[in-house]
Amino acid sequence: MAESMQGLKRSHRCAELNKANVGEQVTVMGWVQKTRNTGGLIFADLRDRSGLLQITFNSEKLSEETFNKAYKLRSEFVIAVTGTVVEREGGVNKNLITGEIEVIADSLRVLSEAETPPFPIEENSKTKEELRLKHRYLDLRRPDLQANIMLRSKVCVLTRAFLAEEGFLEIETPMLTKSTPEGARDYLVPSRVHPGSFYALPQSPQIFKQLLMCSGYDRYFQIARCFRDEDLRADRQPEFTQIDMELSFVDVDDVIDVNERLLAKLFKESVGVDVTLPIQRMTWKEAMDRFGSDKPDLRFGMELHDVTDVVKDCEFVVFKGAIENGGSVRGINAEGQGAMPRKKIDALVDFAKGYGAKGLAYVAINEDGTYKSSFAKFMKPEEMDALVAAMEGKPGDLLLFAADKNKLVYDVLGALRLELANQMGLLDKNEYRFVWITEFPLLEWSEEQGRYMAMHHPFTMPMEEDLQYLETEPGRVRAKAYDIVLNGTEIGGGSVRIHQDDVQERMFEALGFTKEAAYEQFGFLLNAFKYGVTPHAGLAYGLDRLVMLMAKEDSIRDVIAFPKVKDASCLMSEAPNVVDPKQLEELEIAVMAKEEE
Ligand code: AMO
Ligand code: AMP
Repeated sequence: MAESMQGLKRSHRCAELNKANVGEQVTVMGWVQKTRNTGGLIFADLRDRSGLLQITFNSEKLSEETFNKAYKLRSEFVIAVTGTVVEREGGVNKNLITGEIEVIADSLRVLSEAETPPFPIEENSKTKEELRLKHRYLDLRRPDLQANIMLRSKVCVLTRAFLAEEGFLEIETPMLTKSTPEGARDYLVPSRVHPGSFYALPQSPQIFKQLLMCSGYDRYFQIARCFRDEDLRADRQPEFTQIDMELSFVDVDDVIDVNERLLAKLFKESVGVDVTLPIQRMTWKEAMDRFGSDKPDLRFGMELHDVTDVVKDCEFVVFKGAIENGGSVRGINAEGQGAMPRKKIDALVDFAKGYGAKGLAYVAINEDGTYKSSFAKFMKPEEMDALVAAMEGKPGDLLLFAADKNKLVYDVLGALRLELANQMGLLDKNEYRFVWITEFPLLEWSEEQGRYMAMHHPFTMPMEEDLQYLETEPGRVRAKAYDIVLNGTEIGGGSVRIHQDDVQERMFEALGFTKEAAYEQFGFLLNAFKYGVTPHAGLAYGLDRLVMLMAKEDSIRDVIAFPKVKDASCLMSEAPNVVDPKQLEELEIAVMAKEEE
């Protein structure tokens, strides 16, 4: 039977009590973690979001009715206890923050009884994630998840304080809006008032924040929910949160400066990590050449070596063919992995094929300096020696090569490098390596669309020295765009925006947009710019990714209170779901029956 808490007031959270409170009368409330019964004494571990506290019910000090109530306590009952803080008699429990004390109960109220939960509420749960997500309200009681959610709250509070201090205004932008330019698929919301018309949920506040710059709010920020209908991964959710900002009258260095100070504050004050400023910067080109990735993990080396020149005259058709096709041959040196069993190497080859490679050539250097290789038979001994030397190969090393178009070689080796680092245990979650990636290409050729696409979005400013190539060699133009990368994850990105209409027009042309098409999609922004626009730039962090790394988690689901799973559904609420036919009728929407295959 559930009792009321009338007349009671919580005096402390459980783990706020310590030796300094000994002798005090306190009232604590929370969930029963577990109980132990030793005849005349019942011990209960009481849990709230601060931690655990031991409560002792003593049959000699309590009425029979109260002791009986304590006797019936079970895990997850919600109770209120009034009692006295004392030093622990049974010895200190070093595993608990409150391990030196306990509360001797004077009274007990059972505020809510509880059925046995479908899984134990405990740290480092072994329970399958699906079951936990179905009962997320219980999962969220677990101390590690609570710590993550509290960390996330702290990051938001610190962000607001810092940005307000720096003169940023917090302004909300609409959720029911028009398609935004981030390039993922939109989530659509049908309009009842305008049948057949749809709002798009924002993929980011991009256009609105640029409009705010036009309107004179020269520093804006928002902790904004964004929606993207893309394939999900461990670091992608259909709805996620950005720390979004935009600044007027600034260039790249100004944005980087304020953000470095923000990051330093967030890491220091929320997880006690010192970020050394300034953060290293690396151009996109250097990142690709050295790490095969525009989000390089700098916690370990294993850099790519371009050996195209070294093998250009060899007879191995795989290498020769790739070079003749305008591609390259590059390799990585997995130091000390030369004794890797054949089966594991084959698994690496399959891994590479998963990234589109046609194969993966390897050389294992035996301890006696001889080679075990998948292609030595096609090479002259001196060519092999030159190749191994170019790779800085030593006895005991494993050299892996990809030969193909550059983009593919980067993709394959970039991914392989991470996979090997993972296998070799080189990824230390306690180490935080930040890097700014700068000078991204402005445009990227899309085979699918047969045209250039904006790598960031169509409002990104080309680098002034490259503007001259926009019409003649579009692929060569670099952008004033930057990403902030932490341990191989892109935690944020942004750019300086185009504010001159002639440049914007040339950009649309390069993208193959007619003026009409550009106006149809982004007319309100382009019109706004006619009435006086500031030079402006901005950046957005993925808050979920940032907190994931701070919390040393592998998935952003672990730092989102109510996340969705891979197929974008919520296992708890069972969204998305069918709706009442009446609702569809009002919206003048008919659902097409799927044709049987
Ligand atoms: P961008 O598209 O790079 O830039 O997004 C900014 C950051 O948001 C995070 N992010 C995601 N996090 C979780 N799930 C997703 N599906 C997801 N997609 C992106 C990433 C990314 O770095 N308007 C621009 C910013 C700007 O130019 O100011 C933008 O949205 O951490
Ligand atoms: P093959 O002659 O096709 O058996 O290839 C010899 C070796 O080259 C095998 O180890 C293949 O995995 C590897 N290989 C094939 N294509 C490529 C490629 N594009 N890049 C690197 N290695 C490759």
